[in-house]
Amino acid sequence: MTDSLVMDPGVAAAVPVLRTAAPARAGLLPFPAVAGGGPRVLVVFASRHGATREIAAELARWSCASEAGRGGRLTAALAPVELQPDPSAFDAVVVGSALYSGRWLEPARRYLADVAPELSRRPTWLFSSGLGGDQPWGPGGEDAEVRAFGDRIGARGHRAFPGRLERRLLSAAERSVWPAGSAAGDLRDWRAVRGWAEEIAAGAVARCAVPVPG
Ligand SMILES: Cc1cc2nc3c(=O)[nH]c(=O)nc-3n(C[C@H](O)[C@H](O)[C@H](O)COP(=O)(O)O)c2cc1C
Repeated sequence: MTDSLVMDPGVAAAVPVLRTAAPARAGLLPFPAVAGGGPRVLVVFASRHGATREIAAELARWSCASEAGRGGRLTAALAPVELQPDPSAFDAVVVGSALYSGRWLEPARRYLADVAPELSRRPTWLFSSGLGGDQPWGPGGEDAEVRAFGDRIGARGHRAFPGRLERRLLSAAERSVWPAGSAAGDLRDWRAVRGWAEEIAAGAVARCAVPVPG
């Protein structure tokens, strides 16, 4: 991957994080945006078993690689929410979480609250990954509080993507909540993910386009 920067907790220590000009808000990690001449997009994810991480990685990759992204010289950085990346150095932000028992994962919910002022000042997209369908705690695919948060900050969109559930990866506690015979498998729709990445790229590029003096 050449034009997007992928960071996992394991490699974060090696990244020159202190080059950002603006001081970070307390508790947020100064996060370097790769300058490519176009919009810089931060993609943040919360994932327990990797399905949402892979969706987020594809959003970052395809927002750069799509026609809109290439044309607009977009760059993207990918970060797990546990790093608390500071969105200040970015022009647009995408935040997503897996759904568990009808809710986003707690670190992702906390992150939204922590960076709400930054998100409300820049184009932001939210996404969930879940198996959807009827669930004991209500209809899947949605966290109503996160949707309401998105409305409050003027989020550009909220997508619910089908995720992946592999019973062999689940803890005993999770297995008891998600009994054998319930929906399972890899339902991720990469075409839909890439389509949405293209929309994000187009939105971010349009927002950052500098008018050519005429
Ligand atoms: C215990 C448990 C609870 C879940 N709750 C929901 C839910 O409320 N809504 C939903 O759409 N999917 C639900 N799922 C499915 C997961 O959200 C889905 O597998 C997701 O893609 C997992 O992402 P991850 O691998 O990034 O953690 C649940 C799965 C488990 C194991």
